Amino acid sequence: MEKNAKIYVAGHRGMVGSAIVRELKRQGYADIITRTHRELDLCRQAEVEAFFAEEKPEYVFLAAAKVGGIVANSEALADFMYENMMLEMNVIHAAWQHGCKKLEFLGSSCIYPRLAPQPMKESCLLTSELEKTNEAYALAKISGLKYCEFLNKQYGTDYISVMPTNLYGPNDNYHPTHSHVLPALIRRFHEAKESRAASVTCWGDGSPLREFLYVDDLANLCVFLMNNYSGNETVNAGTGKELSIRELTELVAKVVGYEGEILWDTSRPNGTPRKLLDVSKAAQLGWTYRTELEDGIRLAYEDFLHNPVRAER
Ligand SMILES: NC(=O)c1ccc[n+]([C@@H]2O[C@H](COP(=O)([O-])OP(=O)(O)OC[C@H]3O[C@@H](n4cnc5c(N)ncnc54)[C@H](OP(=O)(O)O)[C@@H]3O)[C@@H](O)[C@H]2O)c1
Repeated sequence: MEKNAKIYVAGHRGMVGSAIVRELKRQGYADIITRTHRELDLCRQAEVEAFFAEEKPEYVFLAAAKVGGIVANSEALADFMYENMMLEMNVIHAAWQHGCKKLEFLGSSCIYPRLAPQPMKESCLLTSELEKTNEAYALAKISGLKYCEFLNKQYGTDYISVMPTNLYGPNDNYHPTHSHVLPALIRRFHEAKESRAASVTCWGDGSPLREFLYVDDLANLCVFLMNNYSGNETVNAGTGKELSIRELTELVAKVVGYEGEILWDTSRPNGTPRKLLDVSKAAQLGWTYRTELEDGIRLAYEDFLHNPVRAER
């Protein structure tokens, strides 16, 4: 990407989109176009086409999506499929029609099969069944990734995709029931500290192993890939390091300063025992993460304390 290139970041108010805008500005890219959801509903094909016809961005980061944790996903399978499929097809198609040089599509590690061998390689895509609770979201994301691949094959475009592990950081969603595990824990421990609660009860037994990437590191990788990667196969984005949910809760409690007891409700489901990405492909391309988990949680907690509007979503 040339420093004066016209770049559209879709979803710039979200956690990932806002981090990509920060990273682009940090690296000296000046011509960044954005639209809020209210200004441009990406599910509306005619509006998306009119926007691309007028602005003709040369590069597109597609970080807009309907996103949610396990509860939100499983309660609204139809909405997750429709909105994600529509906005992806509209943006990718209009970008291609209006001569966008390169597009990067943001997916998620939930596209990989439920029982994929761990750590999960990019090549395990579509080798067996998906996890049922987020099947709709995963199918929409796989369609977006495949549409990029098919445009490359049929029309010679240079559209790529990246699949991040669990993310966290500034601008996260801290909704009490519809957020992901790490922001949900930050909020629960913060509220428990404020109310001087004697204990906090978490779901399951704390044994599942998970991986977390700080969102500014992901944004750094997204810009890196835009400049250094072409190919139909996606690229995993993670740290390659895992910890148990029990270790994670202890770390969040420490950062937040909650000193009460942590209890485990083993009548609640644990979820998949292990979910780790194989990050050797990004490493071979020359990229690795920078922010260690404890440092990242500190930065995220600072943001939670000083960004109440987003925290109340
Ligand atoms: N968060 C994670 O842990 C995680 C992990 C792996 C991958 N990812 C991927 O990263 C991408 C971004 O996720 P995120 O965590 O940044 O989500 P987010 O914070 O919820 O941001 C998504 C953004 O997209 C916008 N948007 C949604 N529907 C839209 C529409 N129809 N028209 C216009 N804008 C729309 C949202 O606007 P409103 O809020 O106004 O609706 C929001 O600003 C997604 O593709 C997701 O799969 C996220």
